Amino acid sequence: MSHADDHQGTRRDFLYYATAGAGTVAAGAAVWPLINQMNPSADVQALSSIRVDISGIEPGTQLTVKFRGKPVFIRRRLQDEIDAARAVKLEELVDPSAENANLGPDAPATDENRAMDENGEWLVMIGVCTHLGCVPLGGRSGDFGGWFCPCHGSHYDTAGRIRKGPAPRNLDIPVTRFDGADAIILG
Ligand code: FES
Repeated sequence: MSHADDHQGTRRDFLYYATAGAGTVAAGAAVWPLINQMNPSADVQALSSIRVDISGIEPGTQLTVKFRGKPVFIRRRLQDEIDAARAVKLEELVDPSAENANLGPDAPATDENRAMDENGEWLVMIGVCTHLGCVPLGGRSGDFGGWFCPCHGSHYDTAGRIRKGPAPRNLDIPVTRFDGADAIILG
């Protein structure tokens, strides 16, 4: 990582864990379960969806939250990451599917089908390597400036698409949506 932003991004990456019934708040970002306290199945609801405050995520950094036992990467991409992802032709991709739970199974793996918003600033993915399940490293890692799984050498690009190495599929995108401008709902 030689780019100044890389170092900055790495230092400022955050890791928070959401636990049922208790939120964690730090550094301007917060994670908490969506719980209706009057509902007897509140613990079940907490597992089924969480609301994540994304207002504290600086451009070029990533927030990682634990959701349903897995890490979820929420990256606020810089323009050069978006441009790099959008310049890739579909023929260059190992996995042509968007792997986006918010779209149909036939959606192609364009960056537009992977990012949450039209401008491509927000990318939300399950942080589990599709080879054997390690957690890939972020901070513009690997040969394609996205994520790198050191377990067996899988390289993902700035849209989380597998480009090199043994992983067979792009990083999965969970069911997610915006809740206003400053938060997303996972699940
Ligand atoms: S688990 Fe990621 S490359 Fe094998």
